[in-house]
Parts: sequence; structure tokens; C-alpha cells
Amino acid sequence: MQLLFATHNAHKVAEVNRILEQTGIELVTLSEIGLSEDPPETGDTFEANALQKARWVYERTGRPVVADDSGLEVDALRGAPGVHSKRFSPEAQPGPNNQLLLERLGAAVDRRARFRCVIAVIDEHGERTAEGSCEGTIGTALQGTGGFGYDPLFHPDEAPGRTMAELSMEDKNAISHRGRAFRQLPGLLGG
Ligand code: IMP
Repeated sequence: MQLLFATHNAHKVAEVNRILEQTGIELVTLSEIGLSEDPPETGDTFEANALQKARWVYERTGRPVVADDSGLEVDALRGAPGVHSKRFSPEAQPGPNNQLLLERLGAAVDRRARFRCVIAVIDEHGERTAEGSCEGTIGTALQGTGGFGYDPLFHPDEAPGRTMAELSMEDKNAISHRGRAFRQLPGLLGG
């Protein structure tokens, strides 16, 4: 089946397409159907934002849609950047976001953090959500060139000695917040 994916992030699309390989679910991006605007995300939680993005697309298209909202929660920063992960720094770019995160943490000993992802599906059966998370710690320097966003600073507990940016897409998807959330998608669509 075809499902609209409410995002303009090409990295996310690539990861999710890989996660959904062999499920029979084909994602169609917003640009492919001529929706060039970014869906709004003004909520205080990942769940509120995922639902907001999915509703925005469903209202405009009437077609089955999945949206995700994700981000990084750092314990020593009381959960920041959280829902503001994309726009943490004024530049709202990965490089400055990572530099700001390193600055804010300084020499903190507690560097515990997690990536979280909530997906929201809307179709003729209504609204459903599911979530996934990935526990880890924030490093003291950038490491690796893969992935996107905060990946070069994030050391997953499940990949000792490596950052998320040093994992293949397949290995990242196996343990990532997004992999864990989107693997529940076929079940959500089942009714
Ligand atoms: P979203 O597009 O509103 O879900 O914003 C998510 C933001 O959180 C991204 O722009 C990244 O800064 C961060 N983020 C989410 N998932 C990941 C990931 O898998 N790796 C690194 N950063 C991520």
C-alpha cells in the first residue's frame, strides 16, 4: 500500500524506506505530491507534533499518512533539546547544534541521553501512535560521518565504542528510535 510520509528530511526518508523494505508499504513524500510547505510542529511533546504533522497532511489530501517527530533528550539539560532538537542553535543546522550541545554540557560527568521518535498514522480507521527510543551518552567530540543531526555525538549503549554516525544504515536502524517506532507501522495499519 501507499502511505504519505509527512517530512521533507531526505535522511529520514532514506532510513525509513530501508526499515520498511519487504513490508509492502511504499512511502510517498510530500514533495512528490507537490506539497512544498513544511507541516507545522508547535507542540510540547513528540506525540503532539507527530499528530499535528499527520493531521495537517490528512486534512489537505484525505490520503493515509504517517508522520514522525523525533529528537534528543539530554538528562543533564533536563530533557533539552527535546522537541526543539532541529532548531536548538539559532542557525538550526547540525554543525552549530552539535557545537551548542558540547558547550552546554561542558565537562559534565552525567552525559546520559536518548533519541526518541513518535510516529502518528491517520487513515480511514482514525489516528494511532507508536514510539521508539535509543539510550546512550553524549561524547566530548564529533566522531563519524554517517547518519545526520546529532549522530556524531551520540554513543548508543548498544554499539560500544562507536557513535551513531559510525554505524551503517542497517546497524543504525536495528537499534535506533526511528527503527523501533517504524517497525510497529505494519501493525498499526492492520486495523
Ligand atoms: P523532526 O524532523 O522534527 O523530527 O526533528 C528531528 C531533529 O532531531 C533532527 O533535525 C535532528 O536534529 C534530531 N534527530 C532526530 N533523529 C535523529 C537521528 O536519528 N540522528 C540524529 N539526530 C536526530
